[in-house]
Amino acid sequence: MPGRIVVTGRVPEPALELLREAGEVDAHMQETALSVEELHAAVAGADAVLTLLSDRVDDAFLEAAGPQLRVVSNVAVGYNNIDVAACSARGVLVTNTPGVLTDATADIAMALILMVMRRLGEGERVIRSQTGWRWHMHYMLGASLQGKTLGIVGMGQIGTATARRARAFGMEIIYSGRRRSDEELEAELGATFFGFDDLLATSDVVSLHCPLTPETHHLITTQRLAQMRSDAYLVNTTRGPVVDEGALAEALRTGVIRGAGLDVFEHEPDVHPGLLELENAVLIPHLGSATIETRTAMAVLAARNAAAVLSGEAPLTPVTI
Ligand code: DGY
Repeated sequence: MPGRIVVTGRVPEPALELLREAGEVDAHMQETALSVEELHAAVAGADAVLTLLSDRVDDAFLEAAGPQLRVVSNVAVGYNNIDVAACSARGVLVTNTPGVLTDATADIAMALILMVMRRLGEGERVIRSQTGWRWHMHYMLGASLQGKTLGIVGMGQIGTATARRARAFGMEIIYSGRRRSDEELEAELGATFFGFDDLLATSDVVSLHCPLTPETHHLITTQRLAQMRSDAYLVNTTRGPVVDEGALAEALRTGVIRGAGLDVFEHEPDVHPGLLELENAVLIPHLGSATIETRTAMAVLAARNAAAVLSGEAPLTPVTI
């Protein structure tokens, strides 16, 4: 039974082609997020909706869509924008896009580790500002990666892929999380499981890879930053609200930790003004999955999920609670 499929923002063409085979497609081709009112008007009468991470799927969204809605297919691995319990209560399936963005996001985590430890953002700003510079023995010294300890918070797919990259740079791996990885993976990565407090106190770099949930909201606070070493770095490629951004800006300003690399922000697209003035903060605009190949794979997976549900099959990557 073909259905009406609403796509809330521009996605790559191969995904739209798949969707056209599955139903009647109403694709909104704007690049930026629809307003809440526009979103609710757009999804009215939809059987399936492809949502972007900026779309809030809550009771009001579900009410606006109507009782025929069968699936919300998020074009993202993170689904903190979706009230999964509210969807379940109405019999609406939720899907996400794990796996296809693992490498791209781990690349960005590694890039941020390199940028912040080797002061690459500062270096680029010096060249571009044409303020003048000269090589000397002590000019813009950063920290070596080799032999340093990377603390992975959340050894899921992206945490694991980041650890693999860091191993190639000679880093030692420790990790914390809700559960221990299997022995085989620990052996491959030479990784040791730590309690979260011990990980904070031990790591040269803490890299966040846990999903945003009520439990991980503001996981990193003033107190947690104070538990880190004063020569340590924080890297965040998961979701901004995992870090109390005001607390981080203050910790970076006062030397509680040495630096931070951030791809995500608490109130995107806004960034805490305190961070903008700091040389020891590397700030990039949520680029984790931003490659042509990865975004295409994400949208295609999301389209396949929606098409599967509309044709009465199980989705490939459902979100379960
Ligand atoms: C995701 O899929 O959750 C990423 O943040 C998108 O870049």
